[in-house]
Amino acid sequence: MSSHDPIQLWKRYCRHLCHRPDIGLRLDVSRMHFDDAYLDQMRSRMESALQAMQSLEAGAKANIDEDRMVGHYWLRAPDLAPDDEIRAEIEKNVRAIKNFAQQIHSGSIAPQQGDGFYVVLVVGIGGSALGPQFVADALGTTNDPMIIRFVDNTDPDGIDRTLAELDENLAQTLTIVISKSGGTVETRNGMLEVAAAYHKAKLDFARHAVAVTMEGSRLHKQAIDERWLHIFPMWDWVGGRTSELSAVGLLPAALQGIDIDEMLEGARLCDIATREPRIGNNPAAMMALMWYDAVKNRSKRNMIVLPYRDRLLLLSRYLQQLIMESLGKRYDRGGKEVCEGLTVLGNKGTTDQHALVQQLQEGTNDFFATLIGVSRDREGKSMPLGEEATAGDFLHGFLLGTRAALFEGGRESMTISADELNARTVGVLIALFERAVGLYAELININAYHQPGVEMGKKAAGGTIRLQKEVLGYLGQHRGEAQTVEQIAAAIGHADAAETVFHILEHAAANVDHGVSREAGESPFAAKYRM
Ligand code: PA5
Repeated sequence: MSSHDPIQLWKRYCRHLCHRPDIGLRLDVSRMHFDDAYLDQMRSRMESALQAMQSLEAGAKANIDEDRMVGHYWLRAPDLAPDDEIRAEIEKNVRAIKNFAQQIHSGSIAPQQGDGFYVVLVVGIGGSALGPQFVADALGTTNDPMIIRFVDNTDPDGIDRTLAELDENLAQTLTIVISKSGGTVETRNGMLEVAAAYHKAKLDFARHAVAVTMEGSRLHKQAIDERWLHIFPMWDWVGGRTSELSAVGLLPAALQGIDIDEMLEGARLCDIATREPRIGNNPAAMMALMWYDAVKNRSKRNMIVLPYRDRLLLLSRYLQQLIMESLGKRYDRGGKEVCEGLTVLGNKGTTDQHALVQQLQEGTNDFFATLIGVSRDREGKSMPLGEEATAGDFLHGFLLGTRAALFEGGRESMTISADELNARTVGVLIALFERAVGLYAELININAYHQPGVEMGKKAAGGTIRLQKEVLGYLGQHRGEAQTVEQIAAAIGHADAAETVFHILEHAAANVDHGVSREAGESPFAAKYRM
């Protein structure tokens, strides 16, 4: 562990500060507990990781399990694309997005009723929602040409709430359905419910709908058949969780009025900074090395993300997917069981000071924190508050206070400081974490670009829906007969699935949809169900 002597600490801070004015960012790792020899010990491994990233960027099929290239880096530097066709596609897509947004804003693409679209409703999930949500919240202003809302779940109450908010504005709402695969159930359900709301309001959904999806997908076919307003492409070489700078993120952002060129430029510059071979000068390499050291040498797998800025509240949710879906893997690339992963949690400072920081300070020491500060507090001048300090001075003071107190308590933290928060910074942050994830995955030898666990969950959910159909079918054929869970499960030949049948029946009886009623018994399992 590093010395607590303030002079020694200052020297350590100066020695290891990664200062990148070219991307308006500093990374301080001095309060992580690595020892000074560690960076030299890891040099050649990090060099290999950087080389692997170079071949990934050159078009190697780095997603070996799915036999795919990993091309999100080309989205902000099309010249790097491995062939002219991909380069031209990327450039054409950005032009098409800007053009479409301009036509929507000017009213030259107008809805069925009224003079223009003023609301964007995004329907998507996971990588097709978290990036757009983060960016919308980070960069939205009250002067935006369109307000933006999201349906990112198959939660009926959640969908109702969003639709109720839109109610009077539905005629002026442009719905973007985002799904790379075009077949994700949650997104399809959301789309069907939203389409039904348009129909109920006597509006033609197709005249208000745009798709972002891969060519040939179910969604793609539907959008063509129904003549939706536009279809923007997704490509198999862009993963869901790294798709923010494809049409997935750029289209909603451009419609909201966000400067997408600046986001792309921030990411492009950050890519250059994080290809830097001098490791101490490469913030993504330093972050990946810090994660590696904390996990390997001190078993700290919990990453607490604390941005000291309300606008970065959704960063931890965005990073949760980027990091946990990329790094949480059972097998390494050699097929050895490793069960890797980092757990990302977070909210925002200084709000967290009154919530989870108590445990960070005194409870289980199983984490490292990532504090994020922004130097420029707001546009223009702030009023002096207590002791002539502004609200921003207090926010900054709390960040430094938490950092110092954590260190005093033997807790580790690193701090990212951005000069200001704007579209370019958001692009920088996205690219920084993407690259850190890629480098860390190289260090631990896993494929960061597939998600077999997500697929397993999707299959299991599908099985439950099929079983429910059988249960309801059986009750329908035996109308009026009240039976227990075990009787029903045995009758449909699924005695071994009695527990799932129990959950299905309880849920069905709690809702009016399927006409299932429940007669209570002496225990929950003696209850009888009928149609
Ligand atoms: O990162 C991923 O690949 C996933 O989280 C997907 O983004 C998510 O499952 C949504 O998939 P899709 O865009 O195909 O609807």
